[in-house]
Amino acid sequence: MKQVHYGDMLSLGIPAKEIQSWAGRHEVPDGLNDEGLLKKRQATAFDSIAMPYPTERAAQKANNGDMPPDLSHLSSFLKDGGTYVEKMLLDYQKTPENLKLEPGLFYNPTALAHHRRFKMAPPFQQAAAQHLVYPDGQHPTDQQMAQDVTAFLEWIDDPHETARHISGILISIYLLLVGFFAFLWRVHVWKK
Ligand code: HEM
Repeated sequence: MKQVHYGDMLSLGIPAKEIQSWAGRHEVPDGLNDEGLLKKRQATAFDSIAMPYPTERAAQKANNGDMPPDLSHLSSFLKDGGTYVEKMLLDYQKTPENLKLEPGLFYNPTALAHHRRFKMAPPFQQAAAQHLVYPDGQHPTDQQMAQDVTAFLEWIDDPHETARHISGILISIYLLLVGFFAFLWRVHVWKK
C-alpha cells in the first residue's frame, strides 16, 4: 500500500505509540551508501506501508511472475470497487473437469471474468483465521474476513473523508453566520 502511511491509521483510533512500534518493525529504503548500495532505515509513522517482499522482483517470483497490485486505492480504481473485491475474494472454486489451467493459475470465475488468467492464490486460510478473534470470542468465517478486508480497503481509499466532511459542515455554518451578521450590519449602516 504505497500510498497509505502508517500514520493514517491514527484516524482509526489506534494509539500513536502502537503505530510507531508497528512501523518500527519494518525497514524502508534510505538512499545509497558510499559504495552505491541501497541503505535502509526503520520506518516511522510518516512512511508508506512497507512492501511485504524485499524487492519487486521477489514479489513477482513468489507469485508465478505476476506482481500483486498496490491496494491503496483499489476500491476507486477497479470497476465496481468493493463489490468486486468482496465477490472475488470468496469466489475461488475447484477447476471444472473440462478446463485445463496452466500451473500457478487459480480458478476464480469473478476474477476470470475480469482477467483471462488469475495468479493470486486464495488469501484466506481457516487455519490462520483461528488466530483471529472477534470481541465476542468468535473466529471469523471467510465471508466475514472478506467483508472486513473490503470495508478496510474502502475506508483506506480516503481515510480522512469523515474529518473532511466535518470541517466542511463547520466552515459552512461559520460562513452562514458571518453572512447573516454582515447583512444585519449593512441594514444598520444604511438605515439612516
Ligand atoms: C485479502 C487480501 C487481498 C486482497 C483484497 C487482494 C486483492 C487483489 C485484487 C483486487 C487483485 C486484482 C484482481 C483483478 O484485477 O481482477 C489482486 C491481484 C493479485 N494479487 Fe491479491 N489480494 C489480497 C491478497 C493477496 C496476497 C496475500 C497475495 C500474494 C501472496 C496476492 C497476490 C496477488 C497477485 C499476484 C495478483 C495479480 C494476479 C494476476 O494479475 O493474475 N494477493 N489482488
